[in-house]
Amino acid sequence: MRLRNVKGSRETIAASEYTIDSPENYKGKWSEVFGNDNPIYIEVGMGKGKFITTLAAMNPEINYIGIEKYSSVLVRAIEKRRELDISNLFFIRMDAENICDIFDENEISRIYLNFSDPWPKDRHAKRRLTSKEFFARYDRILESDGIVEFKTDNNMLFDFSLEQIPMANWEIVEFTRDLHHSGMSVGNIMTEYEEKFSSMGNNINKLIAKR
Ligand SMILES: C[S@@+](CC[C@H](N)C(=O)[O-])C[C@H]1O[C@@H](n2cnc3c(N)ncnc32)[C@H](O)[C@@H]1O
Repeated sequence: MRLRNVKGSRETIAASEYTIDSPENYKGKWSEVFGNDNPIYIEVGMGKGKFITTLAAMNPEINYIGIEKYSSVLVRAIEKRRELDISNLFFIRMDAENICDIFDENEISRIYLNFSDPWPKDRHAKRRLTSKEFFARYDRILESDGIVEFKTDNNMLFDFSLEQIPMANWEIVEFTRDLHHSGMSVGNIMTEYEEKFSSMGNNINKLIAKR
């Protein structure tokens, strides 16, 4: 993904009440951050945040955390968040590689991965958010009946994910290669990338995985 440097984005994030600094301090204590025991759903690689801000506004009984590596896109999510009068959404700027430093065992109830970077070179396969290495991390933080939902227009990344997830001892409970023309589209919230790529005629793949 090509990223423009957004001037002042780091300062905006540092000053934002919606972004959690030093998130490792809250490991095992995220319910205190939200002030309730509602389930916590996270989106890893949320980009500009359309998906998670829409979900948070629709579902006040769920707590949401959006994780994004780059300030330049996270700042756009903060702008969207400001427009909403909600208390169930926070953001973390971090590399998800370190996600187990942030969340305790079973602390998370659902993980969304939307249009994750494909990392096309074989030597970078471990960086793909649906690699078996990442699923081993999700295994630690997700409660036993929790699920991972993954959408992408990248057919090679989707094929890779269909192979890797069972290798990590997870089960793919449902999948489609044409989300927008399938029964799995009920209640679908489009992400920024989903809008862009589906308008270009690309098929959208989706899978749901659990232990
Ligand atoms: C292709 S964009 C998709 C954005 C959004 N999910 C959507 O569907 O519109 C992928 C995003 O994931 C972020 N990302 C990729 N790897 C990451 C990682 N290891 N940790 C956190 N964010 C990551 C990228 O910075 C980028 O913003």
